[in-house]
Amino acid sequence: MRAQVHEEAENEPVTIVRKGIDKEIDVINVDLLESEAKTRLSEAVYVFIANGAGGQWTLHENLRAFNDYVFTPHRMGGVVRDKIDTSITILGETLPHPILISPMGSHALVHPEGEVATAEGAARSGTLLCVSSASTRSLEDIAKASSGPKWFQMYLNVDMGLSRELLQRVRPAGFKAVILTVDAIGQGSSDEYVRLGRARPWLPYGNFPTGSANAFKTDLSWADLEFTRNASGLPVVVKGITRAEDAAAAVKAGASVIQVSNHGGRALDGTPASITVLPKIADALQGDTPIIMDSGIRRGMDVVKALALGANAVAVGRPVWWALTLGGAGGISGLMAYFHRELVNTMLHCGVDKIAALGHEHVERVSR
Ligand code: FNR
Repeated sequence: MRAQVHEEAENEPVTIVRKGIDKEIDVINVDLLESEAKTRLSEAVYVFIANGAGGQWTLHENLRAFNDYVFTPHRMGGVVRDKIDTSITILGETLPHPILISPMGSHALVHPEGEVATAEGAARSGTLLCVSSASTRSLEDIAKASSGPKWFQMYLNVDMGLSRELLQRVRPAGFKAVILTVDAIGQGSSDEYVRLGRARPWLPYGNFPTGSANAFKTDLSWADLEFTRNASGLPVVVKGITRAEDAAAAVKAGASVIQVSNHGGRALDGTPASITVLPKIADALQGDTPIIMDSGIRRGMDVVKALALGANAVAVGRPVWWALTLGGAGGISGLMAYFHRELVNTMLHCGVDKIAALGHEHVERVSR
């Protein structure tokens, strides 16, 4: 892995980055993608990405809990595959499909162009890219990399002056919303990572002066939502909600979208799977506030289950890293093509020709 080189040219600092792989990949499933990517990564980087907090119960539960629901396909509805419409509109943004790239920091750990390659791949597939404030590249570099739709994720810094400065750069760069992540408030390391005995793989953050980026504000309250909205002038998505009461409180405090998430099992081990808590949260919000769900999405079937249980869109985490490792921008577009193909196929079998038609009647909870 080659680090970025920063040089002064005229008055503007420029970033020289080695060109990395850009190869369209054909994804059969995410397990195969992960095993292939694992062979290309150091053990420390692989474990940092793949693992979850503590004993990883939540990490595994995120995948298992989709099996609590089975499909109840509707037959003889005359649905034509080519006419299936997967488009959605969220926060005024019309997207060709409801599968977002979840915000994740440090993409240059697996690709020399970092989030710029991710942005190019996302745009090729019309995917909404959520960019982490802990990115390796600056938010301006990422914004310029493509004209595709983008939202910016914020980890508030203990230095609220620094947080404000960063938030003020987001709208002028072209981002349409800020995602305030509220669950990364402590150690999320897995036991396996601790056993490896190595420091977290780290690259300088593109958005902050060196040394300041790790000081995440952990004593978060609803006043921080208002701060984020005022400083950025953008609608705020609250990410990391797992309780119906918190979802309602977030909306009351001014949230425009709720992202149901346990951070892919990287925050507090022992929290339930996102798909388990989603129905209660959807019930509390009554369809008035859009919901995004992440944590454990690996197949088109998972997407359809989440949408049927009340999500308006889903976000994908770890599969993005494996795709970026293996194909760069082409990996990302290949991954999104896989998700889209599976989404269409599942909708066809369920007898549904548009996203809004998916509802509780398309799934059933199985008793264990
Ligand atoms: C993350 N995630 C995350 N979330 C966030 O809000 N800001 C961030 O910077 C990061 N960074 C990050 C790094 C890595 C390596 C991973 C795997 C995840 C969490 C991410 O957005 C998302 O919530 C989960 O990854 C979704 O779960 P799955 O799809 O990975 O199971």
